[in-house]
Amino acid sequence: MKKITIAGGGVLGSQIALLNAYHGMDTTVWLRSPASIDRAKPKFEKAIQEILADIDLAKKHPGFIPSGLVIDGQFDPEIARKKILEAKDKIHFELDLAKAVDGADLVIETVSEAAPDKIEFYKKMAPLLDDKTIVVTNSSTLLPSMFAEASGRPDRYLSLHFANHIWKNNLTEVMVQPRTDPESFEAVIDYAKSIGMDPVAVRKEKSGYLLNSMLVPFLFSAMDLLVTGVSDVDDIDKAWIKGSGAPYGPFRILDSVGLETARNIALMYSQIPDDIAPFHYKDIAKMLGEKIEKGEKFYS
Ligand SMILES: NC(=O)c1ccc[n+]([C@@H]2O[C@H](COP(=O)([O-])OP(=O)(O)OC[C@H]3O[C@@H](n4cnc5c(N)ncnc54)[C@H](O)[C@@H]3O)[C@@H](O)[C@H]2O)c1
Repeated sequence: MKKITIAGGGVLGSQIALLNAYHGMDTTVWLRSPASIDRAKPKFEKAIQEILADIDLAKKHPGFIPSGLVIDGQFDPEIARKKILEAKDKIHFELDLAKAVDGADLVIETVSEAAPDKIEFYKKMAPLLDDKTIVVTNSSTLLPSMFAEASGRPDRYLSLHFANHIWKNNLTEVMVQPRTDPESFEAVIDYAKSIGMDPVAVRKEKSGYLLNSMLVPFLFSAMDLLVTGVSDVDDIDKAWIKGSGAPYGPFRILDSVGLETARNIALMYSQIPDDIAPFHYKDIAKMLGEKIEKGEKFYS
């Protein structure tokens, strides 16, 4: 794959576009309006500044390597700095969807997390695509089978889920939906490797992919221990760190994930009837809401 189109230029779209261009891909970002371009530009600038800061960090601490910036097994901070600055100028921005997807080997959809918006986008794009084009969604919470039909090419449609800060957190989860063909799946795995990612295979559709299928119950178990008064933040984290050898406990992880994200999940699960819910979601949402209101995290 050489010609990549990214639909959307927000937090993730900007990072994905930059890494594509950094690794030598022909990179186009489709945005729906001139106002979207104005909103996207600061996101690109922020991502570049964060990447440059990590390159500087790697210079000072050679043990730290932003894995997504490694090329052919090598990471040289000076070369990385030059290449990321060049990458910025190589990205094409396009408002015309037909032009944006013309000849694309891969379209990566990074439109906001709203199913109706994504469906509308796929329906508009489907008649414009070349036969060869594979389409992936970066959605964190919506299953690809929800969009396979609207993509117009269910056999060449799947998920490619990046993690935030992709230049250093270079896990990507490649997930099929029931109609994805094996060649498209393998092609997307190879593509992910070619832009510095470290892909994992999710061979059955699964909400939460691999990471969040493990992480979300873990974090909610910890918060449940807190809201039911079983223990406190420090001791719950200590139990995990001392007992498992992990560097961080669940509340440090929650601070880094963001309390807003955790609260949104808690609110969503609060709809499960109390007698069958595995955790006290309503109490957890309330506790998180109070902390957010006061501008607090668990550790500051
Ligand atoms: N932010 C993260 O940490 C993260 C991590 C992994 C995956 N994701 C996923 O990536 C996707 C994008 O997330 P983000 O954080 O980059 O969002 P964002 O809000 O920063 O950017 C969304 C982009 O979609 C565009 N957009 C919004 N509505 C649209 C519409 N109706 N039609 C066309 N374009 C539209 C916006 O102009 C913007 O460029 C989501 O599916 C999200 O689940 C996000």
